[in-house]
Amino acid sequence: MFSKLKLEKEFKKRLDRYYDELKWLYSELYHNDTQAFDYFLCMLHQYYKERTPDLREWDEARELVPDWYRGNEMLGMQMYVNCFNKDLKGVKEKISYLRETGSNYIHLMPLLESPKGRSDGGYAVSDFRKVDPSLGTMEDLKDLAEECHRNGMSVCMDFVMNHTSEDHEWARRARSGDPEYQSRYFFFDNWYIPNEFEKTVPQVFPTTAPGNFSWCPEANKVVMTTFYPYQWDLNYGNPTVFNDMTANMLNLCNHGIDIIRLDATPYIWKTLGTTCRNLPQVHTLVRIMRMATEIVCPGTLLLGEVVMEPSKVVPYFGSIDKPECHMLYNVTTMASTWHTVATQDVRLMKHQLGQVFALPKQYVFLNYLRCHDDIGWGLDYDYLKQFGVKEVEHKKFLNDYFCGHRPFSDARGELYNNDPRLGDARLCGTTASLCGIEAAEYENNPWKLDMGIKLDIMLHAFLFTQSGIPIIYSGDEIGQLNDYSYHNDPEKWDDSRYLHRGNFKWDEVSSRRSNTKRQGRLYKAIRKLEKIREKHDVFDTSADCWIVETYNDHVLGIGRYHHGEKLIALFNFSDHDETAWINEREDYKDLMTNRKREAKAVGVPAKDFVWLITKYK
Ligand code: GLC
Repeated sequence: MFSKLKLEKEFKKRLDRYYDELKWLYSELYHNDTQAFDYFLCMLHQYYKERTPDLREWDEARELVPDWYRGNEMLGMQMYVNCFNKDLKGVKEKISYLRETGSNYIHLMPLLESPKGRSDGGYAVSDFRKVDPSLGTMEDLKDLAEECHRNGMSVCMDFVMNHTSEDHEWARRARSGDPEYQSRYFFFDNWYIPNEFEKTVPQVFPTTAPGNFSWCPEANKVVMTTFYPYQWDLNYGNPTVFNDMTANMLNLCNHGIDIIRLDATPYIWKTLGTTCRNLPQVHTLVRIMRMATEIVCPGTLLLGEVVMEPSKVVPYFGSIDKPECHMLYNVTTMASTWHTVATQDVRLMKHQLGQVFALPKQYVFLNYLRCHDDIGWGLDYDYLKQFGVKEVEHKKFLNDYFCGHRPFSDARGELYNNDPRLGDARLCGTTASLCGIEAAEYENNPWKLDMGIKLDIMLHAFLFTQSGIPIIYSGDEIGQLNDYSYHNDPEKWDDSRYLHRGNFKWDEVSSRRSNTKRQGRLYKAIRKLEKIREKHDVFDTSADCWIVETYNDHVLGIGRYHHGEKLIALFNFSDHDETAWINEREDYKDLMTNRKREAKAVGVPAKDFVWLITKYK
């Protein structure tokens, strides 16, 4: 048991470690507002005291092994609670299935109260202290987190901090004219300043929600709404907002949430005349939040959602001395993966991975093929320029390809936020549908189905070869296809992201043991890959990684080395069988067949991969 004295001592020890930096950053950001700072510290103390003994033990255990989330056994799965199994209790009932899939980290998509029809998939929160009644209660959340912990699983949840729903209590009070609450958002008497902002701020949803501001008739004012008009941007220049929102985050941690996904991180600070993205103050805020979690709940990880070009993403790790996020999405590798699928040319991917491999190994990426959002084509166009690739044309090509509008493309995707002015559009669809499996099944074409399944498996093998934590989008393990029913739902029809947010098909899960059906072929193959990854040290996040030159632009080669194991991984993105012109001296074994195989001029079938391993004595 923890005595009160020990608690106080521990809190003081942790606070002392960060006090100077905390005070410095806070005072700088909030112009020496000592009252606000004192409030912030008291709030940290309160949440520290409220942390349950179980969670404290969890914290202590993790502090002893700070690398606990970097191992090769980490595997995530993300899901919408309602799509997965109705509600939080329903998720709890299916923990054994999740364990069976090998997941030890589940990301529950937004589940706090959010107005029906104006929720942006739960990303418009009207009460940060309340689970959406359709999904359960805060008690259910705690209960689920405890059950996950008992099963060795961590739980991740979104913390939607950039904005609240227009139904949030603060927003209601602001709407009724209360200036104190209006100062928690960005309100303007007329369109003059908003129009000035619009000159430099890009748009997130140019088609579904154009502009960054909305008219609020009740307040007779303009309010900043970067995302949907019902998502009101919070003003983090106001310390009360930061203090109370940090408290909301810590409250989730004290309900057993281990990983906090900081939603839309780059957007949380706004300054006129800038893009209102990635401003220096954002890093200060994230750094303070990191220190807050280190003090209150050091077992918690921060996962930044930074969907930006690589040069903007990496700074969110902070520095080794002053870390910000523990983990970030590897968004550019994800987008480059789909580019490579469409072009069958691995040169961009080689360049992209070369950059990732050069980063310090302390940086942990969350790798993924698909998530709940669209695929944005944020590729390195400066690099692609040398091959004559032009951004607008190329985006059009990729979108055409993945919508199945190109010869030889069996992908079935849909456009998202098509902005004809800029020639920009993003893309939606499940992994299986984008790999051509949906078209193959529709056409009843076994050859196409084989190719689609091979591609899907190869992409997972590539995912598992990357350093970091792979996270699977629920349903991908059985190759779930697009769900077109959103077209008929007036609350969803204009947001094509619902194409890949269909209900999990429990009736298809029973086919996961089949050797002939799509579900079983994918499920078994993916499980096999996961098990191999878990067994071999070479897949550890701290392995050395390099690009292996294959002298073939269709075949990507990756080398990994760790603790005496060396892996040569080859991925053939082409429709044809190809040869990787490599010449490695050691004796290798093919991890998929367990047979000896030379790593010299390796033949890799179309849309297939090879994992070769050798051990040094
Ligand atoms: C993030 C979410 C996305 C949401 C947006 C606004 O980007 O991933 O689904 O629409 O934030 O909260």
